[in-house]
Amino acid sequence: MGEPVNVGIVGCGAISAQYLQTIDRLPQVRLVAVADLDLERARAAVSPYPEVEVLTVAELMADPRIGVVLNLTIPAAHAEIALLAIAAGKDVYCEKPLAATGEDARGVLAAAAEAGVRVGCAPDTVLGTGTQTARVAIDDGLIGRPVAATATMMTPGHERWHPNPDFYYVPGGGPLLDMGPYYISSLVTMLGPVATVIGAASRTRSKRTIGSGPRQGEEIPVTVDTHVTGVLVHASGVLSTLVMSFDAAATQAPRIEVHGERGSLVVPDPNHFDGPVLLSGVGDDGWRTLPESAGYAGAGRGVGLLDFAGPGEPRAGGTLAFHVLDVMESLLASAHSGRSVDIGSTCERPKPVALVTAGD
Ligand SMILES: NC(=O)c1ccc[n+]([C@@H]2O[C@H](COP(=O)([O-])OP(=O)(O)OC[C@H]3O[C@@H](n4cnc5c(N)ncnc54)[C@H](O)[C@@H]3O)[C@@H](O)[C@H]2O)c1
Repeated sequence: MGEPVNVGIVGCGAISAQYLQTIDRLPQVRLVAVADLDLERARAAVSPYPEVEVLTVAELMADPRIGVVLNLTIPAAHAEIALLAIAAGKDVYCEKPLAATGEDARGVLAAAAEAGVRVGCAPDTVLGTGTQTARVAIDDGLIGRPVAATATMMTPGHERWHPNPDFYYVPGGGPLLDMGPYYISSLVTMLGPVATVIGAASRTRSKRTIGSGPRQGEEIPVTVDTHVTGVLVHASGVLSTLVMSFDAAATQAPRIEVHGERGSLVVPDPNHFDGPVLLSGVGDDGWRTLPESAGYAGAGRGVGLLDFAGPGEPRAGGTLAFHVLDVMESLLASAHSGRSVDIGSTCERPKPVALVTAGD
Protein backbone atom coordinates (compact mmCIF):
# COMPACT_ATOMS: atom_id res chain seq x y z
CA MET A 1 0.00 0.00 0.00
CA GLY A 2 1.33 3.49 -0.88
CA GLU A 3 0.85 6.71 1.05
CA PRO A 4 -2.75 7.29 2.18
CA VAL A 5 -4.75 9.94 0.34
CA ASN A 6 -5.25 13.14 2.38
CA VAL A 7 -8.88 14.21 2.71
CA GLY A 8 -10.58 17.39 3.94
CA ILE A 9 -14.28 17.33 4.81
CA VAL A 10 -16.56 20.31 4.13
CA GLY A 11 -19.91 20.00 5.98
CA CYS A 12 -20.03 18.49 9.48
CA GLY A 13 -23.75 17.81 9.93
CA ALA A 14 -25.78 14.68 10.62
CA ILE A 15 -24.08 12.33 8.16
CA SER A 16 -20.49 13.35 8.88
CA ALA A 17 -20.14 11.05 11.93
CA GLN A 18 -20.56 7.95 9.74
CA TYR A 19 -17.83 9.14 7.35
CA LEU A 20 -15.50 9.97 10.24
CA GLN A 21 -15.89 6.43 11.60
CA THR A 22 -15.24 4.83 8.20
CA ILE A 23 -12.21 6.98 7.38
CA ASP A 24 -10.80 6.24 10.83
CA ARG A 25 -10.59 2.54 9.95
CA LEU A 26 -9.45 2.83 6.30
CA PRO A 27 -5.62 2.86 6.25
CA GLN A 28 -5.72 4.09 2.63
CA VAL A 29 -7.43 7.39 3.62
CA ARG A 30 -6.24 10.03 6.13
CA LEU A 31 -8.48 12.86 7.35
CA VAL A 32 -6.43 16.06 7.67
CA ALA A 33 -9.02 18.79 8.31
CA VAL A 34 -12.71 19.63 8.42
CA ALA A 35 -14.64 22.84 7.70
CA ASP A 36 -18.20 24.05 8.06
CA LEU A 37 -20.03 27.37 7.88
CA ASP A 38 -20.63 26.66 11.57
CA LEU A 39 -17.13 26.18 13.02
CA GLU A 40 -18.53 25.08 16.38
CA ARG A 41 -20.28 22.20 14.61
CA ALA A 42 -17.03 21.28 12.89
CA ARG A 43 -15.16 21.33 16.22
CA ALA A 44 -17.77 19.14 17.87
CA ALA A 45 -17.72 16.65 14.98
CA VAL A 46 -13.98 16.00 15.27
CA SER A 47 -13.68 16.17 19.05
CA PRO A 48 -13.00 12.38 19.13
CA TYR A 49 -10.21 12.90 16.55
CA PRO A 50 -7.77 15.46 18.05
CA GLU A 51 -5.28 15.11 15.19
CA VAL A 52 -7.84 16.56 12.72
CA GLU A 53 -7.67 20.35 12.21
CA VAL A 54 -10.70 22.63 12.03
CA LEU A 55 -10.37 25.20 9.24
CA THR A 56 -12.55 27.69 7.39
CA VAL A 57 -13.71 26.56 3.95
CA ALA A 58 -11.20 28.94 2.31
CA GLU A 59 -8.33 27.64 4.47
CA LEU A 60 -9.24 24.02 3.69
CA MET A 61 -9.34 24.72 -0.05
CA ALA A 62 -5.93 26.40 0.15
CA ASP A 63 -4.32 23.60 2.21
CA PRO A 64 -1.68 21.96 -0.02
CA ARG A 65 -1.75 18.73 2.03
CA ILE A 66 -5.33 17.97 0.98
CA GLY A 67 -5.80 16.01 -2.24
CA VAL A 68 -9.50 15.14 -1.94
CA VAL A 69 -12.35 17.34 -0.71
CA LEU A 70 -15.18 15.27 0.77
CA ASN A 71 -18.29 17.41 0.23
CA LEU A 72 -20.90 16.62 2.91
CA THR A 73 -22.83 19.89 2.66
CA ILE A 74 -26.53 20.14 1.82
CA PRO A 75 -27.53 19.53 -1.83
CA ALA A 76 -27.97 23.27 -2.59
CA ALA A 77 -24.27 23.81 -1.72
CA HIS A 78 -22.85 20.71 -3.44
CA ALA A 79 -21.95 22.44 -6.73
CA GLU A 80 -20.54 25.58 -5.06
CA ILE A 81 -18.19 23.55 -2.82
CA ALA A 82 -17.26 21.15 -5.62
CA LEU A 83 -16.31 24.07 -7.90
CA LEU A 84 -14.16 25.62 -5.15
CA ALA A 85 -12.34 22.30 -4.69
CA ILE A 86 -11.83 21.87 -8.43
CA ALA A 87 -10.55 25.45 -8.76
CA ALA A 88 -8.03 24.59 -6.02
CA GLY A 89 -6.87 21.60 -8.11
CA LYS A 90 -8.34 19.01 -5.74
CA ASP A 91 -10.38 15.89 -6.47
CA VAL A 92 -13.88 16.07 -5.01
CA TYR A 93 -16.11 13.31 -3.66
CA CYS A 94 -19.63 14.52 -2.99
CA GLU A 95 -22.63 13.32 -1.01
CA LYS A 96 -25.65 12.69 -3.21
CA PRO A 97 -27.16 14.12 -5.30
CA LEU A 98 -24.14 15.29 -7.32
CA ALA A 99 -25.77 18.76 -7.43
CA ALA A 100 -29.23 20.19 -6.85
CA THR A 101 -29.81 20.42 -10.62
CA GLY A 102 -28.50 18.63 -13.68
CA GLU A 103 -27.24 21.94 -15.04
CA ASP A 104 -25.13 22.53 -11.92
CA ALA A 105 -23.85 18.94 -12.06
CA ARG A 106 -22.89 19.36 -15.73
CA GLY A 107 -20.88 22.47 -14.74
CA VAL A 108 -19.06 20.51 -12.03
CA LEU A 109 -18.11 17.69 -14.43
CA ALA A 110 -17.00 20.13 -17.13
CA ALA A 111 -14.84 22.12 -14.68
CA ALA A 112 -13.31 18.89 -13.35
CA ALA A 113 -12.52 17.63 -16.86
CA GLU A 114 -10.86 20.93 -17.72
CA ALA A 115 -8.85 20.98 -14.48
CA GLY A 116 -7.91 17.30 -14.84
CA VAL A 117 -9.30 16.35 -11.42
CA ARG A 118 -11.66 13.51 -10.48
CA VAL A 119 -15.27 13.61 -9.31
CA GLY A 120 -16.81 10.90 -7.15
CA CYS A 121 -20.25 10.77 -5.62
CA ALA A 122 -22.32 8.83 -3.10
CA PRO A 123 -24.06 6.47 -2.81
CA ASP A 124 -21.35 3.91 -2.12
CA THR A 125 -23.85 1.66 -0.34
CA VAL A 126 -24.37 -0.13 -3.68
CA LEU A 127 -20.72 -1.28 -3.47
CA GLY A 128 -21.65 -3.35 -0.41
CA THR A 129 -22.49 -7.04 -0.42
CA GLY A 130 -26.27 -6.48 -0.94
CA THR A 131 -26.42 -4.91 -4.41
CA GLN A 132 -23.12 -6.53 -5.48
CA THR A 133 -24.27 -10.09 -4.65
CA ALA A 134 -27.51 -9.44 -6.57
CA ARG A 135 -25.55 -8.08 -9.52
CA VAL A 136 -23.37 -11.19 -9.68
CA ALA A 137 -26.48 -13.41 -9.44
CA ILE A 138 -27.98 -11.60 -12.43
CA ASP A 139 -24.70 -11.66 -14.40
CA ASP A 140 -24.35 -15.38 -13.66
CA GLY A 141 -27.80 -16.00 -15.18
CA LEU A 142 -29.55 -17.16 -11.98
CA ILE A 143 -32.83 -15.46 -13.01
CA GLY A 144 -32.34 -15.82 -16.77
CA ARG A 145 -32.78 -12.73 -18.93
CA PRO A 146 -33.87 -9.80 -16.70
CA VAL A 147 -37.29 -8.44 -17.66
CA ALA A 148 -38.48 -6.07 -14.94
CA ALA A 149 -37.72 -4.57 -11.54
CA THR A 150 -39.58 -2.71 -8.82
CA ALA A 151 -38.04 -0.17 -6.44
CA THR A 152 -40.14 1.12 -3.55
CA MET A 153 -39.23 3.67 -0.86
CA MET A 154 -42.20 4.90 1.17
CA THR A 155 -41.88 6.77 4.47
CA PRO A 156 -43.62 9.66 6.24
CA GLY A 157 -40.57 11.90 5.59
CA HIS A 158 -37.30 12.77 7.35
CA GLU A 159 -38.64 15.76 9.34
CA ARG A 160 -39.58 13.34 12.13
CA TRP A 161 -35.93 12.67 13.05
CA HIS A 162 -33.64 15.17 11.27
CA PRO A 163 -33.11 18.35 13.35
CA ASN A 164 -32.63 20.55 10.23
CA PRO A 165 -34.79 18.88 7.56
CA ASP A 166 -35.36 22.02 5.43
CA PHE A 167 -33.18 20.74 2.57
CA TYR A 168 -35.37 17.69 2.07
CA TYR A 169 -38.28 19.89 0.97
CA VAL A 170 -36.58 22.27 -1.48
CA PRO A 171 -35.18 21.61 -4.98
CA GLY A 172 -32.36 19.09 -4.67
CA GLY A 173 -34.44 17.26 -2.03
CA GLY A 174 -37.82 15.50 -2.03
CA PRO A 175 -38.08 11.70 -1.88
CA LEU A 176 -36.79 11.29 -5.42
CA LEU A 177 -33.61 13.40 -5.28
CA ASP A 178 -32.91 12.36 -1.69
CA MET A 179 -33.53 8.61 -1.86
CA GLY A 180 -33.65 8.01 -5.62
CA PRO A 181 -29.83 7.98 -5.91
CA TYR A 182 -29.67 4.78 -3.82
CA TYR A 183 -32.38 2.97 -5.76
CA ILE A 184 -31.46 4.16 -9.24
CA SER A 185 -27.73 3.57 -8.68
CA SER A 186 -28.59 0.03 -7.59
CA LEU A 187 -30.85 -0.52 -10.63
CA VAL A 188 -28.18 0.84 -13.02
CA THR A 189 -25.49 -1.30 -11.32
CA MET A 190 -27.61 -4.42 -11.85
CA LEU A 191 -29.47 -3.64 -15.08
CA GLY A 192 -27.51 -0.95 -16.92
CA PRO A 193 -28.27 2.64 -17.93
CA VAL A 194 -31.72 4.10 -18.52
CA ALA A 195 -32.89 5.25 -21.96
CA THR A 196 -36.38 6.68 -21.35
CA VAL A 197 -38.61 7.54 -18.37
CA ILE A 198 -42.32 8.10 -17.78
CA GLY A 199 -43.24 9.82 -14.50
CA ALA A 200 -46.14 11.01 -12.34
CA ALA A 201 -45.91 12.99 -9.10
CA SER A 202 -47.94 14.70 -6.38
CA ARG A 203 -47.45 16.93 -3.32
CA THR A 204 -49.82 16.41 -0.39
CA ARG A 205 -48.88 19.25 1.96
CA SER A 206 -47.39 22.72 1.56
CA LYS A 207 -45.76 22.59 5.04
CA ARG A 208 -44.07 20.02 7.25
CA THR A 209 -43.48 20.13 11.03
CA ILE A 210 -40.02 19.43 12.49
CA GLY A 211 -40.32 16.51 14.91
CA SER A 212 -37.05 16.62 16.89
CA GLY A 213 -34.18 18.81 18.10
CA PRO A 214 -34.13 22.50 19.09
CA ARG A 215 -36.51 23.48 16.27
CA GLN A 216 -39.15 20.83 17.16
CA GLY A 217 -42.65 22.07 16.27
CA GLU A 218 -41.41 24.62 13.68
CA GLU A 219 -43.16 24.48 10.31
CA ILE A 220 -41.06 24.46 7.14
CA PRO A 221 -42.24 25.05 3.56
CA VAL A 222 -42.50 22.25 0.98
CA THR A 223 -41.61 23.29 -2.57
CA VAL A 224 -41.02 19.86 -4.16
CA ASP A 225 -43.12 16.81 -5.08
CA THR A 226 -43.35 14.40 -2.15
CA HIS A 227 -44.73 11.31 -3.97
CA VAL A 228 -43.01 10.40 -7.23
CA THR A 229 -43.69 7.32 -9.34
CA GLY A 230 -42.49 6.26 -12.73
CA VAL A 231 -41.17 3.68 -15.13
CA LEU A 232 -37.51 3.56 -16.15
CA VAL A 233 -36.97 1.94 -19.53
CA HIS A 234 -33.40 0.62 -19.40
CA ALA A 235 -31.34 0.58 -22.60
CA SER A 236 -31.45 -3.24 -22.29
CA GLY A 237 -35.26 -3.13 -22.50
CA VAL A 238 -35.79 -4.00 -18.80
CA LEU A 239 -38.67 -1.99 -17.25
CA SER A 240 -38.14 -0.75 -13.66
CA THR A 241 -41.12 0.64 -11.75
CA LEU A 242 -40.12 3.24 -9.14
CA VAL A 243 -42.12 4.62 -6.19
CA MET A 244 -40.38 7.23 -3.99
CA SER A 245 -42.60 8.79 -1.33
CA PHE A 246 -42.53 10.92 1.81
CA ASP A 247 -46.33 10.57 1.93
CA ALA A 248 -46.80 7.07 3.34
CA ALA A 249 -47.03 5.84 6.93
CA ALA A 250 -45.27 2.55 6.20
CA THR A 251 -44.87 -0.21 3.62
CA GLN A 252 -44.18 -3.93 3.54
CA ALA A 253 -43.09 -3.87 -0.11
CA PRO A 254 -39.56 -5.17 -0.72
CA ARG A 255 -37.17 -2.28 -1.42
CA ILE A 256 -36.08 -3.79 -4.75
CA GLU A 257 -37.12 -6.87 -6.70
CA VAL A 258 -35.66 -7.97 -10.03
CA HIS A 259 -37.58 -10.41 -12.20
CA GLY A 260 -36.13 -12.50 -15.01
CA GLU A 261 -37.43 -15.13 -17.40
CA ARG A 262 -36.46 -17.95 -15.02
CA GLY A 263 -36.53 -16.42 -11.56
CA SER A 264 -36.94 -13.47 -9.22
CA LEU A 265 -34.56 -11.77 -6.78
CA VAL A 266 -35.27 -9.72 -3.67
CA VAL A 267 -32.46 -7.15 -3.33
CA PRO A 268 -31.80 -5.55 0.08
CA ASP A 269 -32.23 -1.86 0.92
CA PRO A 270 -29.78 0.07 -1.30
CA ASN A 271 -29.46 2.67 1.48
CA HIS A 272 -27.61 -0.07 3.40
CA PHE A 273 -24.45 -1.92 2.42
CA ASP A 274 -25.62 -5.44 3.14
CA GLY A 275 -28.67 -7.63 3.73
CA PRO A 276 -30.02 -10.91 2.40
CA VAL A 277 -30.43 -11.46 -1.35
CA LEU A 278 -33.30 -13.90 -1.95
CA LEU A 279 -33.85 -16.03 -5.04
CA SER A 280 -36.93 -17.90 -6.21
CA GLY A 281 -36.89 -19.76 -9.51
CA VAL A 282 -40.00 -20.42 -11.59
CA GLY A 283 -41.70 -23.43 -9.94
CA ASP A 284 -39.65 -23.16 -6.71
CA ASP A 285 -41.44 -23.48 -3.40
CA GLY A 286 -40.44 -20.25 -1.61
CA TRP A 287 -37.19 -18.29 -1.48
CA ARG A 288 -33.60 -19.21 -0.69
CA THR A 289 -30.94 -16.80 0.57
CA LEU A 290 -27.88 -16.53 -1.66
CA PRO A 291 -24.46 -16.55 0.02
CA GLU A 292 -22.63 -13.20 -0.07
CA SER A 293 -20.53 -13.45 -3.21
CA ALA A 294 -19.37 -9.90 -4.00
CA GLY A 295 -18.96 -6.42 -2.56
CA TYR A 296 -17.24 -4.67 0.35
CA ALA A 297 -18.15 -6.60 3.50
CA GLY A 298 -18.51 -4.68 6.75
CA ALA A 299 -18.45 -1.37 4.89
CA GLY A 300 -19.64 2.06 6.04
CA ARG A 301 -20.32 5.36 4.30
CA GLY A 302 -17.06 6.60 2.78
CA VAL A 303 -15.89 3.23 1.44
CA GLY A 304 -16.37 4.69 -2.06
CA LEU A 305 -13.26 6.75 -1.32
CA LEU A 306 -11.24 3.54 -1.56
CA ASP A 307 -11.41 3.12 -5.31
CA PHE A 308 -11.80 6.87 -5.78
CA ALA A 309 -8.25 7.05 -4.45
CA GLY A 310 -7.10 4.47 -7.02
CA PRO A 311 -6.68 4.73 -10.81
CA GLY A 312 -9.45 4.66 -13.47
CA GLU A 313 -13.12 5.72 -13.38
CA PRO A 314 -14.25 5.31 -9.77
CA ARG A 315 -17.26 3.02 -9.25
CA ALA A 316 -19.03 5.70 -7.20
CA GLY A 317 -18.11 8.14 -9.93
CA GLY A 318 -19.32 11.41 -11.44
CA THR A 319 -20.53 9.88 -14.71
CA LEU A 320 -22.86 7.44 -12.95
CA ALA A 321 -24.03 10.14 -10.51
CA PHE A 322 -24.76 12.51 -13.39
CA HIS A 323 -26.76 9.84 -15.24
CA VAL A 324 -28.75 9.09 -12.07
CA LEU A 325 -29.49 12.81 -11.58
CA ASP A 326 -30.48 13.09 -15.24
CA VAL A 327 -32.91 10.17 -14.80
CA MET A 328 -34.43 11.79 -11.71
CA GLU A 329 -34.82 15.23 -13.30
CA SER A 330 -36.29 13.64 -16.41
CA LEU A 331 -38.82 11.72 -14.29
CA LEU A 332 -39.98 14.99 -12.73
CA ALA A 333 -40.06 16.68 -16.14
CA SER A 334 -42.16 13.79 -17.45
CA ALA A 335 -44.49 14.02 -14.45
CA HIS A 336 -45.07 17.70 -15.16
CA SER A 337 -45.39 17.44 -18.96
CA GLY A 338 -47.34 14.16 -19.05
CA ARG A 339 -44.93 12.85 -21.72
CA SER A 340 -42.13 10.33 -21.71
CA VAL A 341 -38.61 11.81 -21.70
CA ASP A 342 -35.57 10.33 -23.44
CA ILE A 343 -32.46 10.41 -21.27
CA GLY A 344 -29.63 12.41 -22.84
CA SER A 345 -26.84 10.89 -20.73
CA THR A 346 -25.62 7.35 -20.27
CA CYS A 347 -22.90 5.52 -18.37
CA GLU A 348 -21.15 2.18 -18.16
CA ARG A 349 -22.22 -0.21 -15.44
CA PRO A 350 -19.61 0.29 -12.71
CA LYS A 351 -17.11 -2.59 -12.45
CA PRO A 352 -18.22 -5.33 -10.03
CA VAL A 353 -16.60 -5.40 -6.58
CA ALA A 354 -14.94 -8.68 -5.60
CA LEU A 355 -15.88 -9.94 -2.14
CA VAL A 356 -13.45 -8.21 0.22
CA THR A 357 -13.55 -6.77 3.72
CA ALA A 358 -13.52 -2.96 3.51
CA GLY A 359 -10.14 -1.56 4.49
CA ASP A 360 -8.18 -4.82 4.04
N1 LIG B 1 -28.61 12.74 7.28
C1 LIG B 1 -28.56 11.55 6.69
O1 LIG B 1 -28.97 10.51 7.23
C2 LIG B 1 -27.94 11.43 5.32
C3 LIG B 1 -27.76 10.14 4.83
C4 LIG B 1 -27.14 9.98 3.60
C5 LIG B 1 -26.75 11.08 2.87
N2 LIG B 1 -26.97 12.34 3.35
C6 LIG B 1 -26.56 13.47 2.49
O2 LIG B 1 -25.47 14.11 3.15
C7 LIG B 1 -25.52 15.52 2.88
C8 LIG B 1 -25.55 16.27 4.20
O3 LIG B 1 -26.69 15.84 4.92
P1 LIG B 1 -26.78 16.07 6.49
O4 LIG B 1 -27.98 15.33 6.93
O5 LIG B 1 -25.47 15.80 7.13
O6 LIG B 1 -27.11 17.65 6.49
P2 LIG B 1 -26.94 18.68 7.71
O7 LIG B 1 -27.81 19.83 7.41
O8 LIG B 1 -27.09 17.95 9.01
O9 LIG B 1 -25.39 19.10 7.58
C9 LIG B 1 -24.89 19.85 6.51
C10 LIG B 1 -23.74 20.69 7.02
O10 LIG B 1 -23.16 21.41 5.91
C11 LIG B 1 -22.88 22.72 6.34
N3 LIG B 1 -22.89 23.58 5.15
C12 LIG B 1 -23.95 23.91 4.37
N4 LIG B 1 -23.56 24.73 3.37
C13 LIG B 1 -22.23 24.91 3.53
C14 LIG B 1 -21.25 25.66 2.83
N5 LIG B 1 -21.57 26.38 1.74
N6 LIG B 1 -19.98 25.65 3.28
C15 LIG B 1 -19.63 24.92 4.37
N7 LIG B 1 -20.51 24.19 5.09
C16 LIG B 1 -21.80 24.19 4.67
C17 LIG B 1 -23.97 23.06 7.32
O11 LIG B 1 -23.56 24.12 8.18
C18 LIG B 1 -24.14 21.72 8.06
O12 LIG B 1 -23.30 21.61 9.20
C19 LIG B 1 -26.75 15.74 1.99
O13 LIG B 1 -26.37 15.77 0.65
C20 LIG B 1 -27.62 14.51 2.27
O14 LIG B 1 -28.41 14.18 1.15
C21 LIG B 1 -27.54 12.53 4.56
